[in-house]
This record gives sequence, C-alpha cells and structure tokens, in this order.
Amino acid sequence: MNEYLKHDDWCIIEEGFNPDNQRSSESIFSIGNGHIGQRANFEEQYSGDSLSGNYIAGIYYPDKTKVGWWKNGYPEYFAKVLNAPNWIGINIKVGKIDLDLSKIKIENFRRVLNMKEGYLERSFIAEFPNENIIEIKSTRFISITENELGSIKYEIKSVNVNDKITITPYIDADIINEDANYQEKFWEEISIESKPGEAYVTVKTKKLDFHVCTSMKFNIEKNGSKINHNNKEKRKKKYIAQQVELDIKPDDTISIYKYSAITNSENHKKESLTIAAHNILQRSFEKGFEALLTEQANAWKCKWTDSDIIIEGDVAAQQAIRFNIFQLNQTYTGDDERLNIGPKGFTGEKYGGSTYWDTEAYCLPFYLRTSDKKASRKLLLYRYRHLTKAIENAEKLGFTNGAALYPMVTMNGEECHNEWEITFEEIHRNGAIAFAIYNYTRHTGDESYIEEYGLEVLIAISRFWAQRVNFSKEKNKYVILGVTGPNEYENNVNNNWYTNLMAKWCLEYTLKSIAKIQTKNPEQYIELKNKINFNELKEVGNWSNIVDNMYLPENEELGIFLQQEGYMDKDLLTVEDLRPEDRPINQKWSWDRILRSCFIKQADVLQGIYLFNENYNIDTIKRNFDFYEPKTVHESSLSPCVHTILAAKLGYKEQAYDLYLRTARLDIDDYNDEVDQGLHITSMAGTYLSIVEGFGGMSIKNEELHFAPFIPEQWKLFSFVVRYRESFLKIEVTKGKVTVLNQGRSSSQVFIRDVEYNIKERDSIEIYSN
Ligand code: BGC
Repeated sequence: MNEYLKHDDWCIIEEGFNPDNQRSSESIFSIGNGHIGQRANFEEQYSGDSLSGNYIAGIYYPDKTKVGWWKNGYPEYFAKVLNAPNWIGINIKVGKIDLDLSKIKIENFRRVLNMKEGYLERSFIAEFPNENIIEIKSTRFISITENELGSIKYEIKSVNVNDKITITPYIDADIINEDANYQEKFWEEISIESKPGEAYVTVKTKKLDFHVCTSMKFNIEKNGSKINHNNKEKRKKKYIAQQVELDIKPDDTISIYKYSAITNSENHKKESLTIAAHNILQRSFEKGFEALLTEQANAWKCKWTDSDIIIEGDVAAQQAIRFNIFQLNQTYTGDDERLNIGPKGFTGEKYGGSTYWDTEAYCLPFYLRTSDKKASRKLLLYRYRHLTKAIENAEKLGFTNGAALYPMVTMNGEECHNEWEITFEEIHRNGAIAFAIYNYTRHTGDESYIEEYGLEVLIAISRFWAQRVNFSKEKNKYVILGVTGPNEYENNVNNNWYTNLMAKWCLEYTLKSIAKIQTKNPEQYIELKNKINFNELKEVGNWSNIVDNMYLPENEELGIFLQQEGYMDKDLLTVEDLRPEDRPINQKWSWDRILRSCFIKQADVLQGIYLFNENYNIDTIKRNFDFYEPKTVHESSLSPCVHTILAAKLGYKEQAYDLYLRTARLDIDDYNDEVDQGLHITSMAGTYLSIVEGFGGMSIKNEELHFAPFIPEQWKLFSFVVRYRESFLKIEVTKGKVTVLNQGRSSSQVFIRDVEYNIKERDSIEIYSN
C-alpha cells in the first residue's frame, strides 16, 4: 500500500517528486485511446529507474517460449505487447547541462491526470547546479477523435536564465522490452525521412512483419509568437532528432508543440504509412494544439455522459471509480473488431497485452451498459474471427469434428501461454465465451449476432465439451477430469463444480439456441448445418444426455456446491488463521503448499453462483458464500468484485463495502505493491460491476431489468447510468430514496426491489424507503 496521491473528484494528483514512485506513477498516469497507450514517462531524458512504455494495439511479438520440459500441445510462443518507438521525447539542455530529473534539484513537482478532459499535465521548477532556474509545464494527450495521434505542449520558462537553451525533439525506435526472453531488440529499421520540423521513422518487427511509422512535426513559440528556428539534424540507427538552439532571457517562455502520428500496417498499406502519418500531422498542425485539446475535452464529455458514476460524500471513492471508468474507456473503444482488452491495457508489459477470459467474464458487461451495442458486438466478433484457430487449438490437443477450445491467452486466436497446469487447463474460458453471447443477446435484445455468428461458435464450443466429458460408470454421470477452475490455486483437479456447470450450461444454451433459430430462421440454420457438417440427430441427442447427467459435486450435509472433488479432505482453515507474514501466499508459500491448502485465489464456486444467481435461492447463496468467502485470499484482482456483489445481495452491507474498497483503489493506492508493472484494467470493470450490480443491485431476470439498491453508510449519494435494450436510465440512490430517470427515447419498464414501474421518456420516478 502506498498512498501518495491526492484525493480529488476528477483528477489524479501527485505532488512532490519521489523517484521511488516513478514506475508506479508511470502506470497510474498512463494515457491512451484504445489504439495507442503511453505510460507517463517523461518527455525529457531521465536517467533514474523507469519503465518506458508506449504500446500500439494489435502490434505484438511472438517471443519464443521458454520451458524446461516441452510437452506436446505447448504453445510455441508467448505473445508480447511491444514497447513501440518513443514519440514523446524532447530533450532539454540549459547552457551545457541536461535537464534530467534524476540529477537536478526539483521543486513544486506536480503531475495531474485530468480524467474529465483526458490529458496529462506535469509541472516543476528545476534548479541547475550553476543556479540557473527554469519552470517546466508539459501537457499531453492521445487523441480519442484522431486515433493515431498524440500531442504535446512543452513549456519552458526562464526564471533567471540568460543563456542558450537546446531543445531536441526526437523519435527513438531503438528501444527494448523489459520482458524480452532473450534480451533481443524486436524492431528493425526500414526508413527514416525528414525535413525541417518534421520526421518519420519506419520500423518493422523482426517476426510477423508488422510495420510502424512514428512521426513528429513540431513548432516553437517564444513568448507566444512563432519563431523561425534552425534545426540541426542528428541521426542514429532507428533514431532521428532535430536540435534547436535558442537564446533565453529571464521571464522568456519557450513553447514547443510536438505532434506525433503513429501509423501501422494493420490499418494502412505498408507503403503508405509515411503518407498516412503525414496527412494526420498536417491536419493536426493546422488545427493546432488548443483546438485539438478542446476536441478531446468534448469527446470525453460524451464518454462521461454515457459512463460516469457519481459518488457524493466520499472523495476517495469518487476519484477511484472515475479512475477505473477512465482507464476502461482509454483501453477499449469498440471501433475495431480486431482489438480486445489486455488485463493491463496499454499500461505495462505484464500479461503481454493479450486477451484473457477477463474480457467476456468482466469487461463485456461494462461496455454493454455504457456504450452503443456495436462496441460489445465487436468483442464478440473478435472471438468469431478466431473460431478457426480455436478449432485448430482443440485439434492440437486431440479433439475432432470442429470442436473449439478458445485459448486462455491470445493475440491472434492461437494459445500463447506456457503455464500448462494453470493456464492451459483452465478450459472454463470456453464457457465465458459462450456466456458472453448469451449476455449480449439478453442485454441488447439483438438476436442477429447469435443468428449470424454466435450459433456457429456455440456449436463448436459444445462439440468440445461433449468430447471433453467422460462417462463415469462408478458415478453413473458425466465427469470432467484434469482441469483448473477459476481458482488457480488448485491445478489438475477433477470435477471442478464451476467448469462442469459451465459445460452443462453451454450445451443447454446451444440446444435452446438451435431450436430457436431452426424455427425463426430455418434457411440460415440449414446453411450453417451444412457449413459445419452438423449431425443434428446424433449431436443434439448426445448433448441432451450430457446435460441431463452432468456430475455437479455437492456436499449435502453443508448444503454447498463443492469446488472440486476432494476439497473437503483439506485442512479447512480460514483466512483469519493465516499470519500476516504468510500473505500474500503466492509470494510467501511454495506452490506445493498452496495447492494442498484450502485457500482460494479467486471466486470459483461463487463465480458460478454470481453468473447464474437467478437460479439459486438466497439460502443457497448464503450457505455457499459463508463457506467459501472466509477461505478466499482474493489474490486475483478479479475476485473481490464477485464477492461484493453476492455480499450485497445477501444484505452483508459492511462486508460488501469492505470488499469493494479492495478493488476500487487497488491501483491508485497500490494495495498489492505491483502497480509499477501496469494497471489492473480488467479488474476495473469488476469495480464498476461492484457498484452497478452490487450496490445498485442491477440484474436481468426473465428479460426484465431489476434494481435492488442500497447505499453504503459512508456515502451520501451515488448514481450511475445504464443502457439496457432501448432504455437509457440514470439511477440515483440516496439514504431513503431511489430516483430513476428515463433518459431514453421511449418509455421503460424497470423493477425496483421487485415492484414494477413504467417510466415515460424523459420522466422520472422516486421511490422512498426507510
Ligand atoms: C487470474 C485469471 C486472470 C488473469 C489475467 C490471473 O491472476 O487468476 O483469472 O485471467 O490473472 O487477469
């Protein structure tokens, strides 16, 4: 835990420069637009400890897998998000001394992430050893209206300097990934082009041949007026700089405006990357920095109208939820079906920028509620595009007949992770992908996705489950052996309740969907049947049989579902039995000890109960929650949100709030001492869900929209907006009152604490309680 940031409703604020926090701040103050992301590295050179990170969506590197004992079926590579060429660089020299925050005396350091308008600002006073003093202010943003653009305004004010100042804007493609398995550099130069005030560096990745052009165009003003300057060009391999030398007197202010267009071969033809970058630069240069910044603020205003959560009476909570929403909106914008959401977004190298089940299980509901349905549909289409690869993945493991196993970790549809027992055996991810189709359909009411694409995915997933189960004569039931459930602290277990439940549900949902589409759209169904060689009679019969006879382990005496077979044989301790020095157990204990223990990394049985909560009565939820929550160490950031939602449902208000606090400020206050590696983007979606589904009690039952709100003691008011089918509602909760405002274009039906209300367009209702 490291609470060095100031509380504020709309901004993240750091005051005073502490190099020990630099890596953490670089993550926290990251900016992005779903296409490019940039850690809060400094523009000027910095010789202190730092993780340089600038990432481009869709550009990755298949680094060779490093494992001791190779086994058939292992992925050949581990995908890495690539640290892309540095576009922010502007080196400053005053007289003969470089501005380097690790070497110069710094005062009044202030870094602000303005979440309302989407930009990062940094200011400080630098005092050089020769007593020269300058003031610096830099403002930068990555545009959400111009996907391939980043801009910087860098101001230098002379307090007492009467000397030369050297300004060196540059682009550097000679960069590394910290996590490269073999310390190699992944970029190769293709070309460098330049003219005064403008430069283009085009590089390609050593493997996969991704091309990227990083460009810059800049102008300089002195005391508000444009100046003509001579640029001295400096070139090295994969690097270009243009040095400008100016005289500066006390009170002079020099402003550098640097625009950078970053184009890549996923979006443009390889041979047109420079021209595409040139066009963006030209457009942006003509508009100018301030106009672009205003555009940025306006675009963010729209995002906030659609997704803001207001909390009154608790600034720390308000700041936290906005930070989570801000980062989610910076990570995925839903305008490109080839893109997805990495657990760290664009804020660090960990998890390689790849796609996990996190997207379907946690992130999708955020985008479903806060964006046009097109955004969520693109997340589903991403998996549809990977279906052929998912079938190949399954084939590699010995499955046949079009069975699909989606990867646990992927960039292009292939599995690219190398932890066999943990990641590979987490076949439950196939269930999350099917659940996402169901969730999208029930939420938006749009059945066209399942008809056009979804059913094909569901059938392929069902074919996998049907082959992955086996019939146990002893149990007279279908069983699933050798899996890892969501709780990664148990590997290679038999009959993980969650996995078995997901398998059964997938088969059931596929059967229902087949029946529906068969009647509704027979031609399309027959076309699909022929395309995939679907033996309806045989396969449907087999699946129904599995559904009816799937083994779901339970402990009848306690009335709980069993996480897996043998769980009750463990030493059934609770987290309270752990000594503080034992935690987190994943850092303090051997893997052997973790596997033998009863401690649960993240929601597992409770994950299943959460997804299908409408199927369980409150007593069942309570018995399972009371049994599993005390054994859960929540060492995955994806865990507390699920427990918050169930605790809220059970009326465990304080516990719900305590659990919620664990996710809300996880990164801002660095609870797990690891924010330096990047932000927990996917758990941010969980935080959002904690408020909307936990405190707001939102759920969909029989296609009806329900809320059962309660407000934590610590808050005066909270409100959130939700899209559901044609409805666009704002729910505001205070102590004793719930207000629902219908912001949509037609009347809406909602249930508040099981009472039905119809609200006309632009109208609102108020419900009072004690
Ligand atoms: C969790 C997984 C998750 C992954 C990426 C792991 O710690 O256990 O469920 O998919 O992180 O967020």
